[in-house]
Amino acid sequence: MSGAVLVADEGAVRVIRLNRPEKKNALTLAMYADMMGALQEANERDATRCVMFAGSPDVFCAGNDLADFLKAAQGGGLDPRANEFIHALAHNEKPLVAAVNGPAVGLGTTMLLHCDHVVAGPKTMLSTPFLQLGLIPEAASTMLAPLRMGHARAFSLLVMGRPLSAAEANEAGIVNTVVADPAAVDDVAFKAAQEIAGLPRHALAVTRKLMRGRVDEVLRQMDAETAHYKNLLQSDEARAAFQAFFARKK
Ligand code: COA
Repeated sequence: MSGAVLVADEGAVRVIRLNRPEKKNALTLAMYADMMGALQEANERDATRCVMFAGSPDVFCAGNDLADFLKAAQGGGLDPRANEFIHALAHNEKPLVAAVNGPAVGLGTTMLLHCDHVVAGPKTMLSTPFLQLGLIPEAASTMLAPLRMGHARAFSLLVMGRPLSAAEANEAGIVNTVVADPAAVDDVAFKAAQEIAGLPRHALAVTRKLMRGRVDEVLRQMDAETAHYKNLLQSDEARAAFQAFFARKK
């Protein structure tokens, strides 16, 4: 484990916490591997009935580490670990809860489309500036977001890069519960996870599977997105956008 992802089993709930606050929980390759391993173990671990993703009090996740993207853009190519993590999200069998406060950028937002129950604090801001970075949306969000919120709202989020507040994400069907007190977000999400974990196991597994539709379609969409993503990562536009991010404070 990298230390930037903390995994704790609290009764029947496995908590996967992003713990790289100094970089706004931006996801490194090691963090993808940690999260994938934690999900796979949760699938295999009989005692785990529900998984909860959590971030830091003031940030959920700043998306992919842009330094890694810059390396990929400068010729390193796309490491498979991010793709393996999103595949694990699609294959995951246990219900997923997320506790979100502060920014959730890029995959920080699109991973929520794979969650079954999302609790958001007052400072939540979901955004997917993929096109602004010269990229395209990933994690099957080009399929899941329009299904969830309709084409027009998905276009505004995914293509135009317009962020959603907690209330707007609730209205759009991504967030279940908006919590006024930022300090209560994790607790409210954990209670929901416990509630889900306490449901009859077989009925829960079967219902969730029926509700989520066909995993192979989600995986196909992910792979189609990734094929474009890989090429776009090497583009001049993307490279310039990553460099601009790191030059912004100079
Ligand atoms: N990759 C790498 N480092 C990141 C990062 C990312 N995605 N997001 C933030 N960081 C780093 C910053 O470089 C900064 O590091 P430094 O202190 O060494 O300079 C630190 O985290 C704090 O970020 P900062 O931008 O100062 O915080 P903020 O509160 O003003 O803004 C965000 C927070 C998340 C809104 C902003 O950092 C941001 O937009 N990040 C980029 C998100 C992004 O485009 N992700 C890719 C999506 S595909």
